[in-house]
Amino acid sequence: MCCFLQTNASKACSFIMQVELSGNTQHISQKENHIILKTPQAEARVWVYSPTIIRVNISKHFNTTDHSFAVIQSPEGNLRYDESADELSIYTGELELRITKAPLRFNFYTPDGILLSGDDERFGTVWQGESVTNYRRMFKGERFIGLGEKTGNLDRRGSSYINWNTDAVDYHAKSDPLYKTFPFFVGLHSGLTYGFFLDNTHRSYFDFGASTDHSMYWLGADGGDMNYYFFGAQGVAEIIKDYTWLTGRMEMPPLWSLGYQQCRWSYMSAGELLDIARNFRKCNIPADVLYCDIDYMDGYKIFTWDKKTFPDPKGLIDELKAMGFRLVTIVDPGIKIEEGYKQYDEGVANDYFATYPNGEKYIGEVWPGRCHFPNFYDAKVRDWWGKSFSALTEPGVAGFWNDMNEPAAWGQNIPNMVKFGEHYMPEVRNAYGMQMSRGTYKGTKHLLQGQRPFVLTRAAYAGIQRYSAVWTGDNTANDAHMLLGCRLVNSLGITGVAFTGVDIGGFSGNPTPELMVRWNSLGVYTPMFRNHAMIDTAMREPWRWGKQNEKIIKKDIEQRYKLLPYIYSSFYQSHQTGLPINRTLAIQYPFDEIVYEHIYQNQFMFGDNILVAPVASTERAIKVYMPPGEWYRLSTDKKINGGKEVKAEALLTDLPVFVKAGAIIPMQSVVQNTNETGDGVLQLHIWNGKQATSFTYYEDDGVSYDYEQGSYYKREISFDPRKKQVVLSVVEGRFESRFSKVRFVWHGFEKMKDKVVELLRDEMVIAF
Ligand code: NOJ
Repeated sequence: MCCFLQTNASKACSFIMQVELSGNTQHISQKENHIILKTPQAEARVWVYSPTIIRVNISKHFNTTDHSFAVIQSPEGNLRYDESADELSIYTGELELRITKAPLRFNFYTPDGILLSGDDERFGTVWQGESVTNYRRMFKGERFIGLGEKTGNLDRRGSSYINWNTDAVDYHAKSDPLYKTFPFFVGLHSGLTYGFFLDNTHRSYFDFGASTDHSMYWLGADGGDMNYYFFGAQGVAEIIKDYTWLTGRMEMPPLWSLGYQQCRWSYMSAGELLDIARNFRKCNIPADVLYCDIDYMDGYKIFTWDKKTFPDPKGLIDELKAMGFRLVTIVDPGIKIEEGYKQYDEGVANDYFATYPNGEKYIGEVWPGRCHFPNFYDAKVRDWWGKSFSALTEPGVAGFWNDMNEPAAWGQNIPNMVKFGEHYMPEVRNAYGMQMSRGTYKGTKHLLQGQRPFVLTRAAYAGIQRYSAVWTGDNTANDAHMLLGCRLVNSLGITGVAFTGVDIGGFSGNPTPELMVRWNSLGVYTPMFRNHAMIDTAMREPWRWGKQNEKIIKKDIEQRYKLLPYIYSSFYQSHQTGLPINRTLAIQYPFDEIVYEHIYQNQFMFGDNILVAPVASTERAIKVYMPPGEWYRLSTDKKINGGKEVKAEALLTDLPVFVKAGAIIPMQSVVQNTNETGDGVLQLHIWNGKQATSFTYYEDDGVSYDYEQGSYYKREISFDPRKKQVVLSVVEGRFESRFSKVRFVWHGFEKMKDKVVELLRDEMVIAF
């Protein structure tokens, strides 16, 4: 039974939580950069962050520290508003917020007065005890995309989700919650778009008309405030830009981390790792990265090496380096309780670990047995954690893999009364992995003295892109997981996380050879291309699948390396704008109904110009939706008219991949790893089209931060079919390209031969 306001029933049965509405406004004031509206039950504050971003915080007890893990921007000072007897309206020029005073309700409008989104008239924001919920009006045909790493369909309407970072062992295609929390989504209706970010790290809930009638949807959290940012930009890409302006964008990743990565739980010794490395080189299969999973440590103690199996880490890493490999090692948050173990002793001496309310240290069990858990919310602890990485950076580890940081402990249920400094666990759990990654990133960046660290994390909260790449945890070796992985990666992209990956091949279980081949071919078009497998599964390296399959896998990995100039430029675009590398078609075609059909919802754009249609390993043909315009099949140059569904062949040797007419795709010759310079020829592939197009080409040294000081190489490449020319603008930046020549490769043009010329820094005009 539900009680509405304080009914007799609620008085009689006090265990039923009383419902409190936000009430009627009694007092309005302006303080510095925000407006405050007070009702007897609550207080609402409103800030303008930019003309398209307004923040609303409705609270029963407003916390003056007003801290956010996600947001890195401050509000604008500028507030324009009008007040009448019933309403207060805030205008930004691009967005209008009308606040009804009695009852207190918030409705957002376009500048020409069309309702974008707003409170459900009846309920608005409601509390039950400490839990807070916002009931919102839902429009006919309204769709919802986003929430990051969530299972289910691209369109989240009719589904409900919980954010509670979880070690989601053996998750399946409908499991929820998973490892990460991104309480951000985009709403689409009537040809309009808006974004909504609930910045609250408590357990949170999103129900897009799943459990209510079709007039409203709701979202809320177990505690904290109804603290949200509303985005009014038109266009999904514009909203992603705004969201990543607010929560930050990634730095340029190390180029080597975009190469092929081979992982396993675990390569058990230095000798085994070296054998794997040698075999890649022997088979001429390009690769850049090898991993050490937990077994490199001494008794799973973080920041140690097993002296028997990894006696000489520096020697190992030097040998790997000589073969063109980087090493990434795993770290978990759990610190083994063992006197004499440096991190344990230091953590205890300085009170760095989570406690029970009586001050005793919390103990949970993970790989090393009984462990304490660092309080990563405290800058001192993050600093200490960051410095500890010297045990890894000194011998030469280049990448840092943050695992089990939901945080995971066997049994999963860390008691709610466990405290991290001031915070009880449920308040901040969803940001634990992010804060651990933050410590890892800051510490290793400092230790690496100007080299870019590669940081990878399993658990995350909104804004993680500032510190780390993410992967989607322990998937399974089957087709459903492979296809789900595409949706997870695409959805993470909507929530600002561009550098993402899945365990290629599936973490648990053994893929069939067909699945391995297919999944590897999809890996080429995944921002992070990492093959990883669970302990006790069959070995997964490219040469384990028979000669014929090895050939296909090798060719696909080579394709990844050929595409690196395009991929790196696409990462630059993400670094600048927040747009992801893998983009659900809903970003570019948000109001095209077909994009959301279940058979097409996994399709995505890989950067600006490549469309990928994922296919199960059991299929040899597939229906593909080609959005309006002209397209070419990448492998054959066959032209396809878009705006319709087409049947495409899908042999294991040829994933259905398409290129937009007018596409400019920079490529290079095959290299065995990213240290190699190749043949020095930049290959500019251009596909004929009717429209003028352009592409921002970007290069830098791929390892340092010198690009921040102007050491980069950037130019606009444009294709103009009317003028019949391709123009490379004057180079911007001080960096010297690693290419000395450029080959123009023409696709879909009549009788055009490749053309090779010197690559000049001045403007280059090539006629065709
Ligand atoms: C769980 C991680 O998700 C997985 O990738 C890793 O191999 C194991 N932990 C062992 O460290």
